[in-house]
Amino acid sequence: MTETTSVGFIGLGLMGGPMAANVARAGFPLTVWNRTPAKCEPVRELGARVATTAAEAAAASDVLVTMVSDDAALEDLLFGSAGVADALPSGAVVIDMSTTSPACMESVATRLAERDVRFVDSPVFGSTEPATTGDLWAIVGADADDLARVRPVLDAMCGTVFHMGPVGAGSLMKVCGNLIVTGMIALLGESLTLGTDGGLDPAAMLDVLDAIDFTSPLWKGKGSLVVEGDYAPRFPLRHALKDVRLARSVAASRGLDLRVVAGAEQQYAAAAEAGHQDDDVIAVVHAVRPTAS
Ligand SMILES: NC(=O)c1ccc[n+]([C@@H]2O[C@H](COP(=O)([O-])OP(=O)(O)OC[C@H]3O[C@@H](n4cnc5c(N)ncnc54)[C@H](OP(=O)(O)O)[C@@H]3O)[C@@H](O)[C@H]2O)c1
Repeated sequence: MTETTSVGFIGLGLMGGPMAANVARAGFPLTVWNRTPAKCEPVRELGARVATTAAEAAAASDVLVTMVSDDAALEDLLFGSAGVADALPSGAVVIDMSTTSPACMESVATRLAERDVRFVDSPVFGSTEPATTGDLWAIVGADADDLARVRPVLDAMCGTVFHMGPVGAGSLMKVCGNLIVTGMIALLGESLTLGTDGGLDPAAMLDVLDAIDFTSPLWKGKGSLVVEGDYAPRFPLRHALKDVRLARSVAASRGLDLRVVAGAEQQYAAAAEAGHQDDDVIAVVHAVRPTAS
């Protein structure tokens, strides 16, 4: 696989847009498609071809990257009326980089194999900023040979690639990481609300959290958005709600009960119910004081 490998990219949302741009900048011949066509324009300006249908993008791909919302969107795209799976050339490889369930990844891999198409499960850690700079962390579940084939495409978007095991293992690791991150952000919202309610300056609170021995880039990264009142989406709250529900359902399928994350789910669900589903994830802070919105 070289820079002459034809790459297709479907799903140019907050993450997929800058990721596809990095594939174009790396010199791969690129064909893109997005359900809302206007989001393709910045990548067209970098030289990508914009397909008129998802199947057209798939048919032009040695490697097809998908970056859509969830299991349902991926199923719909690949096996629904868009006809993507049937349009892929024999021998192609699909890399799904969305946050989806391990069961979905395994099922997709099986059905693509019946069409002589290989599959790499590669969700990512990192938000819109590392997506823009090409420094995402890819968490891969795949056969080693399949990963080796697509590695140059992943390297165009990601600074680090972890190979966790077979298809499904990438998704499981992503679920395990996301339950920590979404839980931390929900707790940050509770902490800032409790502190400011008692008269503390939120910026001073973040200085403390940033200095002590359980610090995280999340405290200032997300907390400063609360101080500035900036809720423009980097990681939309509706995806955090999807991710906590995903973690709980994967756990439940194994007879495990994630009670801490169940609390975070309640906060995200309340914030979404109050109209913050398309705001940044830190808008979960609004759920702590139930009368606020
Ligand atoms: N944002 C982050 O910080 C972040 C970080 C790591 C992982 N993720 C994960 O990455 C994925 C994408 O996130 P995002 O933030 O880029 O979300 P987003 O901006 O909402 O983008 C979602 C993309 O999926 C497309 N889509 C949704 N349903 C579809 C369908 N049925 N058929 C075809 N296309 C469909 C959307 O098309 P339209 O443009 O037409 O709506 C859009 O391109 C999610 O699984 C998310 O959990 C996000």
